[in-house]
Amino acid sequence: MTPLPAASSPVRVGLAGAGWVSLHHLEAWTALSGRARVVAIADPDIAAARTRATAFDVPAVYDSVEAMVAAESLDAIDVASPRDTHVRNCLLAAHRGLAVLCQKPLAPTVSEGEALVAGLEGRVRLMVHENWRFRPHYRRIGEWLQNGHVGHVRTVMLSLLTSGLLPDVDGRFPALERQPMLATLDRLLVMEVLIHHLDTLRFLLGPLTLSGATLGRSCDAVRGEDRAALLLTTAGGAAVSVIGDFAAHGHPPQQCDRLEILGTSGRITLDRNRLCLAGRVTGDETIDLAADYKASYLGAITHFLDRLADGQPFETGGSDNLETLRIAEAAYAGWTGA
Ligand SMILES: NC(=O)c1ccc[n+]([C@@H]2O[C@H](COP(=O)([O-])OP(=O)(O)OC[C@H]3O[C@@H](n4cnc5c(N)ncnc54)[C@H](O)[C@@H]3O)[C@@H](O)[C@H]2O)c1
Repeated sequence: MTPLPAASSPVRVGLAGAGWVSLHHLEAWTALSGRARVVAIADPDIAAARTRATAFDVPAVYDSVEAMVAAESLDAIDVASPRDTHVRNCLLAAHRGLAVLCQKPLAPTVSEGEALVAGLEGRVRLMVHENWRFRPHYRRIGEWLQNGHVGHVRTVMLSLLTSGLLPDVDGRFPALERQPMLATLDRLLVMEVLIHHLDTLRFLLGPLTLSGATLGRSCDAVRGEDRAALLLTTAGGAAVSVIGDFAAHGHPPQQCDRLEILGTSGRITLDRNRLCLAGRVTGDETIDLAADYKASYLGAITHFLDRLADGQPFETGGSDNLETLRIAEAAYAGWTGA
């Protein structure tokens, strides 16, 4: 297993990928600078690596992960490169005995994910970077459920409705202006976005079984599906619906979750920035969504460091995360891309 540095010396991290999401990673690593330090960034787009390195005072850049892991003395790798590079980058790191934090989805397919997890098991630590469940308001909902504030869960409805793939007045698509990479994905809404919600629902509700899914696409600016409806069941028999639509008229271009959890003795509702608990115990909170989003990266990376330090399992270790990946992949059964 990965040797860890002495408690007093920061974990030395190499970052693979200097794209959109790396900004959030680097902000979180910077906030944890007493415990860990990103000492190198690798990206075939060396200019992107340099831009991030300059902004965050990272001393070295490389145009490949191979070169980075060969030249640097690292303890861990943070894989924030595209999904089809995850397996290779994880294996390059594992070959050197480095602990691995890998962005979701762990791999493009379940079979590739299973092979990776099996190959790394017992050799190096692997955590999948699933930050959604670390959003503070989802941790709060988790506490309420754990404390039995709504009783037994009966019905759960989660929706993510945005107009991000409807053209704005200039003919541009806000979701693609924000994250151009989304346009290139054959498996878009479920595998890239709703995978977070599926993982978070597993965190909140336990194991989930998918009984059906309907996918569709209407926006020609993307390759993958831009709407999805999934029906799942908890081990306790509660029905869970997950509905996503990125071309939803009348909704904002921003991505905001709406969640309703109905139990035998109470109800939890999350509607954009408002979180409420109704029942014997009540709660009503306003969420700073921007701060909460940043906190999700900090929470995920802090968890990685905490579990590396104490040797305990990651919440989102490889085997656990395969359960999320299996549900996401199963949603594509019968989807032909039309
Ligand atoms: N957790 C979240 O909330 C969240 C949000 C956005 C993206 N992501 C995930 O992060 C990953 C990257 O997404 P992004 O939006 O930053 O994509 P992006 O396209 O903006 O950036 C990817 C970067 O990786 C680089 N790259 C390509 N091949 C590489 C390789 N073999 N090794 C190292 N770097 C390589 C590219 O040059 C690019 O700079 C994806 O897995 C995505 O699903 C997660």
